Amino acid sequence: MFLAVSRGIQLAAKQSVQRFHLGTAKQSHDVLFVHRDTPENSSKTPFQLTPENLKRVESILANYPKGFEPSAIIPMLDICQRQHGWLPISAMNYVADYLKVSRMRIYEVATFYTMFKREPVGKYHVQVCTTTPCMVAGCGSGAILDAIKQKLGIDVGQTTADKTFTLGECECLGACVNGPMLMINDDYYEDLTAKDVNEILDDIKAGKKPKPGPRQSGRFSAEPSGGLTTLKEPPYGPGFKVLKEL
Ligand code: FES
Repeated sequence: MFLAVSRGIQLAAKQSVQRFHLGTAKQSHDVLFVHRDTPENSSKTPFQLTPENLKRVESILANYPKGFEPSAIIPMLDICQRQHGWLPISAMNYVADYLKVSRMRIYEVATFYTMFKREPVGKYHVQVCTTTPCMVAGCGSGAILDAIKQKLGIDVGQTTADKTFTLGECECLGACVNGPMLMINDDYYEDLTAKDVNEILDDIKAGKKPKPGPRQSGRFSAEPSGGLTTLKEPPYGPGFKVLKEL
């Protein structure tokens, strides 16, 4: 009995030595998750919505019944960010006071959604999707990221000295079929190669607005790049052309 137990322990010890732990690779995010007061970002940073933006907030609030004002947290934070360029903690406090909710509720939202920039960013925020589909599609998001780093001379989380570009890495932006892709402010650029990235950045530097969407693939949106392979015939019933006018 003793021998059996001892053999069992030895076997378990041997197995535990052979076992290894699989986990997600440690990745440093490009922004701090917690707030730290800085000269440009503290509760004393002046922030006030313009009358025009306050009107926008009021029209959004009108969509919700009385007592449901917190439903406007996300759109109001978005308006604040669009006005200021990023979201200082004083803007979050302003939203909390305006909507009469606790500050913590606003912080919870602003820290959860990465669309909210809690640190200053450049005029153009370049965010490269590095989630798996973009990582393996075409030349891969790694090559796109490298091309931008080389072109702008900055790393992820950094801003160019002239405060024009900030480089960020982000998770899936829902355009996986057109990967690799990146987002610059509100625009998506898809089906990218390193050459495309250089052209896009050159255009922006020259004061032009590069056309968003798929690049040299010639695609209009997310259709198959080699042409249709299915759904080539007119669909059959029931339901097709039920209404004569269609
Ligand atoms: S994985 Fe990049 S957009 Fe979805």
